[in-house]
Parts: sequence; C-alpha cells; structure tokens
Amino acid sequence: MKNLRIAFAFSTLALVAPSHSQNRIGTGMVDELYQQYCASCHGQDLAGGSSVSLIDEDWKYGSSNAEIARAIRDGFPDLGMIGFGDSLGDERIRSLVIYIREKAALAKSASRTPRQVSSEGVFTSSLHSFSLEKVGQAAGIIWSMDFMPDGGIIATQRDGKLWIFQEGEQPEQITGIPEIWQRGQGGLLEVALHPDYAENQWVYLSYSESVGGKERGRTAGMTAVVRGRVHGNKWVDQENLFNAPVETHTSAGTHFGSRFVFKDGYLYFAIGDRGRQNQAQDLSLPNGKIHRLHDDGRIPADNPFVDKEDAMPSIWSYGHRNPQGLDLNPATGELWETEHGPRGGDETNLIHKGLNYGWPEITYGMNYNGLPITDRTEAEGMEQPKHYWVPSISVCGIDFYEGDLFPSWKGDLFVTGLASQQLHRLRIENGEVTSDEIVLKGVGRLRDIANGPDGSLYLSVEDASRHGTIYRLRPAKN
Ligand code: HEC
Repeated sequence: MKNLRIAFAFSTLALVAPSHSQNRIGTGMVDELYQQYCASCHGQDLAGGSSVSLIDEDWKYGSSNAEIARAIRDGFPDLGMIGFGDSLGDERIRSLVIYIREKAALAKSASRTPRQVSSEGVFTSSLHSFSLEKVGQAAGIIWSMDFMPDGGIIATQRDGKLWIFQEGEQPEQITGIPEIWQRGQGGLLEVALHPDYAENQWVYLSYSESVGGKERGRTAGMTAVVRGRVHGNKWVDQENLFNAPVETHTSAGTHFGSRFVFKDGYLYFAIGDRGRQNQAQDLSLPNGKIHRLHDDGRIPADNPFVDKEDAMPSIWSYGHRNPQGLDLNPATGELWETEHGPRGGDETNLIHKGLNYGWPEITYGMNYNGLPITDRTEAEGMEQPKHYWVPSISVCGIDFYEGDLFPSWKGDLFVTGLASQQLHRLRIENGEVTSDEIVLKGVGRLRDIANGPDGSLYLSVEDASRHGTIYRLRPAKN
C-alpha cells in the first residue's frame, strides 16, 4: 500500500513540476522515467497501449530480470522501440525492472478475490483456518514479546515501557529499565528470556541508547543490549552486554535492528545500518551487522573477525540493511534472518559465520523515492537471499512454528509485514524457500510473531493510531 501511495505522489509531482535539473532525464525517479519514456506505448498503468502490456506475465522476450533489462537496454528498433541503454544507464534500467515487477505483482493480487473473513471471524488459508483471540493491549507499539513460565507475557512497548500481561488482569509495568533514546524507529525493542530462565531468571533487552555522542553536531545513538532480572515489578541486577563505542553512534532515526537468538550458550543479535548504508560493509563499525556474544557478553574466541585488525570482534556476519527478524530453524539449528530492505528488496537470508550479505553493494531493491541504488543484484563473495519480495512487504519479526495446534504448519517460517499488513508462511526445505503463502492480511501492521507455550502462535498487531494488540491464533474448523 505504501508503495502505491508513494508511486501516486511522485507521478503527480512529475506532471506538475518540471525538473530543474540540467540533466535531460530529470531526477530519474522511477515513476517519472516510466511516464516519460514508456507510458506512450505501454500505457500509463503498464497494461498496454500501442504496444504490449508489461504486467500480464506474458513475456515474449524472456521473463528473467536480465532479459527484461536487456529488452529495455537494447529495445526493438525494427518494431518501434529504441534502446534506452545509452540514455538511461544500467542503474535506472534496473529501477524500471523493479517497478515493472511491483506493478505486475500488484495487478495479480488485485485480480485475486480478497480473503474473506466469515461472520464468525474465521480466516481461511490453504492448510488451516483460524480466528484471532485478543490477549492484551497497549497504548503504543508492542515491539516484542516472550512468555514467562507462570503464563504471563513479557512485552516491550517501543516508546520505553516494559509490561507483563496476565490474561484477565491489568498489565503490570516493570520499572527501572535503562534510559531509552527515543528517536524515529528506535526505542525499547527486543525482549527475550534466557533459555535457562528457570535456573537463572535472566531477561534480555535491546534498545536505542544515546550517551552524549554527536554526529555532525546532532545527538547520536546506537542499539544496545542488556540483561537483568524482574523482581516483582522492578528491573534489577542489570548487566550491560553490548554498548557500541560512542564515536560509532549515528544521528539517524532509522534501522536499529534488533531481535535475539540463543544457541549453545551464545547470543546472536542484529543492528541495522542506522541510516548509513555504506557502513554495513565496514567491519570496524557495529551497524549493518549480526553480532555473536557469549550469553554473558564476552566475545567468543572463534568469532570470524577476532583476529582481523580494526574489525569489531563481536561481528558474525555483515552487509545487512535492517534485520528485524531472527530465528533458529528448530529442525536444523540454522540461523534465519529477515531484513527490511529498500523498495523491492525485502529479504530472507540464511546466516553463516563471517559472510557478507551484500548491502548496499548488491540488492534487489531501489530507494523508496524511486531513485536507483545499484543495478547489481549479485557479486562474487556476497550472499544471495533465499527469498525476496517485490513489492516489499515491509518485513518485521519472524518465527518458525513449533507447536501442535496447527499440525500442517509445523516447521514453517512465519513472517510478519508492517505496511503490507500481511502474515506470510514460508515452507523451507533443504535450506531453500519452496513456497510463500499469505495466511492473513488487513488486520493491522504486523510487528512480531512468537510461539506460545500453549502450542499457538501469538501476533503483535498495530492499528492506525499505533496502538498495539497481542492476538493468539485459535484453530477453527475448515
Ligand atoms: C515507441 C513505443 C515504445 C516505447 C516508447 C517503449 N516501448 Fe517497450 N516495446 C515496444 C514494442 C513495439 C515492443 C515489442 C513488442 C512485440 O514484440 O510485440 C516492446 C517491448 C518491450 C518489452 C519486452 C516485452 C516482452 O513481452 O518481452 C519490455 C520489457 C519493454 N518494451 C519495456 C519498455 C520500457 C521499460 C520502456 C521505457 C523505458 C519502453 N518499453 C518504451 C514499444 C515501445
């Protein structure tokens, strides 16, 4: 939906405001390019005019990204389409390919009958039907949640509140948590109990912190990680596990990550590129990375860059834009990540030690304003995503389903979408994504998903005024 709105805004702009740029092709925003150079033959809505439709999935000259790019670059001079290679260049041509893909996907989903909710509030998907049962609510975004052994749900409200929800009771606020730097997408972010919580009572939090750092004169901050214990309604025993050097902090309000995964005594967590995309490739900086620590904050001796000069020793993988989903595949122990990408470039990745996931050197996306980032989607020494979405779904939290209430979903990866308001179910076989189904759409922005102790899935949903609700998925008869 976001994409559509942006597309509309810019195409209007292009009509009323001639570009002031000296450059003959204006600012090069993708809608402007399309309307200026392509619409006269392929139609304003890409559905065809004097020439063929570009959104009917009927490709005469090949359906791959490379073949479509070649068609635009070389044209079909004999048939009346000049080649645009010289005038537009590869990066803008890549943006046009993404644009065509977006429009084709939107046309396809519009032609499908929208998912109907029955009068009993039942949602139907291919393998299971379910209803949503309200569990808790807050006057702000519920960023993350985890389950206490006594049946409570511990949840972060992004604007700096930590709650424990008990069904049928008023939620209780935990006080004494660290001071949060409130800026843009920052705030109080991830919460998770240590896997041995019953013995050690550790609760882990991530949040945006600012400790007086400045970037070009503006207050700057970075994602931080602490652990502590909850006694009554107090946060106590705090230990700081990760605080990035203050000179690495940025003033941007975007891309904080974060999410936690525990495995074999290690803590994995992610930090987004913090609005400084090129820094994702710089191993001396914490942003745009997935990190790995011992669960007490020490640096593991076998981390990939411990011996590399100037590299941050906590780094596990790099070249990430904004990882907001992280989970272990329970069947294989593999670390899966979702990354909120640029427009057309939301990704699912399988994370391996020391590897480079390419941002921003390679990406399937372009900037949200329609300007190109690069035409490169692959490169030597950089990993390919296992799956990506065009248009972007605005990917956020993920979880592999491990319960028994929905047997046919067991082992599938559930992926939430913010702007798209979509819940996706990915089937993963032998390390590859083999299908992608939208099982829920249109109930609000979906921020996080988690397996509950009752074998159900719990979903954090935001309404238009950014109030958060936790729902439980309840099986319904098909
Ligand atoms: C003057 C008319 C004209 C303009 C302007 C034009 N095209 Fe075309 N385009 C054509 C014709 C003609 C064909 C070949 C159709 C056929 O073979 O039936 C074509 C084919 C294509 C194809 C291949 C379609 C397929 O089925 O494989 C793509 C992709 C394409 N154009 C994209 C674009 C883009 C993007 C632009 C703008 C940068 C553009 N065209 C501008 C006339 C035009």
